[in-house]
Amino acid sequence: MQPPCDPVAAVTHPDPYPYYATLLQRPFDRDEPLGLWVAASAEAATAVLASPACRVRPPAEPVPPPLLGGAVGELFGRWVRMTDGDAQARAKRAVAAALDIPAETVMAEARRWSVALAPDRAGLDAFLFALPMHVVGALLGFAPDRLSEVAGRMRDVVAAITPGATAEAIGRGHEATAGMVDMTEALLRSSTGGLAQRLRDAAEREGGVDPAAVTANAVGFLFQAHDAGAGLLGNTVVALGTRPELRRAVAADRGLLPGLVQEVLRCDPPAQNTRRFVAEDTVIAGRPLRAGDAVLVVIAAANRDPALNPDPDRFDPARPDRRLLTFGHGRHACPGDAIAAAIAVAGLDALLDRLPDWPERPAGYRPSPNVRVPRFA
Ligand code: HEM
Repeated sequence: MQPPCDPVAAVTHPDPYPYYATLLQRPFDRDEPLGLWVAASAEAATAVLASPACRVRPPAEPVPPPLLGGAVGELFGRWVRMTDGDAQARAKRAVAAALDIPAETVMAEARRWSVALAPDRAGLDAFLFALPMHVVGALLGFAPDRLSEVAGRMRDVVAAITPGATAEAIGRGHEATAGMVDMTEALLRSSTGGLAQRLRDAAEREGGVDPAAVTANAVGFLFQAHDAGAGLLGNTVVALGTRPELRRAVAADRGLLPGLVQEVLRCDPPAQNTRRFVAEDTVIAGRPLRAGDAVLVVIAAANRDPALNPDPDRFDPARPDRRLLTFGHGRHACPGDAIAAAIAVAGLDALLDRLPDWPERPAGYRPSPNVRVPRFA
C-alpha cells in the first residue's frame, strides 16, 4: 500500500499510522508543498496548542469568506471553537460549566437513542451521524419528535462549513442555520431545563456573554459532535471488525467498552489534526515562526509519540495511564469529551446486540482534511 503523500491525505488513508510514525522523526517541520508547519510530536503539538501567539483563525479572516453575509457566517463567528480573546474565555467558561452534566443523565439519553436508532447493516453509516445528533439534541432540550429535524439541519450546516462547499451547499447551510437558530431561541424561551438553558444560566453567571453567542454555542455543541461523534463510533466499529477476538470478549463483558473507546480515541482518533494561525512572530519548541504562518497540529501522530504513551502502536484497551491529545489541549480543549465517550459506549453496546454481520473493514473514509469517518456501504 502506498503511504499517504502528506498529513492531510493521511486523514482518509486506510492505514496512515506507519506514515505518522515517520513524521515523528521530524517532530516540528515545514511541509513546503502544503505551505504549513507540521507539529507531529507530543511536545510540539502541546506547545503550539498552548501558545498565545497561535490562534484558531487567521487574524485577518475571522470567518471564511464564502460564509460571510449569511446565517452560517454569523454562527461561525460566535463559536468558542473559532474565536480567541477575552470574550472567548468568558463564553468558554460558561460552555464548560454547562457541559458538566451528571454522567448518568448523559448515559441515559445515550442508551435511549442507541436502542431507538440501532440499525441493521444497511443503516450503519446513517446511524454514526444520527446518534450523536439525537443525544446532544435531547440533552439540549429538544423534544424527541424534533430530533430527526435537528439532525437533518445540522447535516446541512456542517456541509456548508466543509472547505470547498459549493454555493448551493452554502445556501442550504444558511437556511438550515436560520432554522436551528429559531428552534434554539424557542428552546431558550421554554423551560425544559436542558443543556441550552444551562448554558444561558452559566453565561448569565459569568457575565458579559452576548445572548446571540449563547444561542450560537448551543448549536455549536451539535456542530462539534457531528463529524467527530460519527468518527469515534465508526472507528470503534473498525477496531472491533479487525479484531474478532476482542469483539467476542467485549460482547461477553460490556464493562470492557469504556476502555476500548478510550484506546480507539488514542490509536485512531476522529479529529486527526487541527490548525493554528500565527498572529505574531514567536519561537515555539525551538522553531522561529512568523506572523501569517499556519501550523497543522497532527493529533493522531502525537497520540502515538512514545514520549506520551510507551509502546504506542500496541492496541490495549486496558492500557494504564493513557494520555491523549484527541480532545486538544489548552484554552480550546474540548469540553465535551465525557459526553463524546458516553455516546460511543452506548452506541457500541446497542450495535453489539443488534448488528448481525459486523463489517470486517470499512469500504473507505469520507473525504475530509481533518476528521476520519469510515464508510461501510
Ligand atoms: C468524539 C467526539 C469529539 C472529539 C474527538 C472532539 C474533539 C475536539 C477537539 C480536538 C477540540 C479542540 C479543537 C482545537 O483546539 O482546535 C474540540 C473542541 C470543542 N468541542 Fe469537542 N470533540 C468531540 C465531541 C464533542 C461534543 C459531544 C461536544 C459537546 C456536546 C463538543 C464540544 C466542543 C466544543 C464546544 C469545543 C470548542 C472548545 C474551544 O474552542 O474552546 N465536542 N473538540
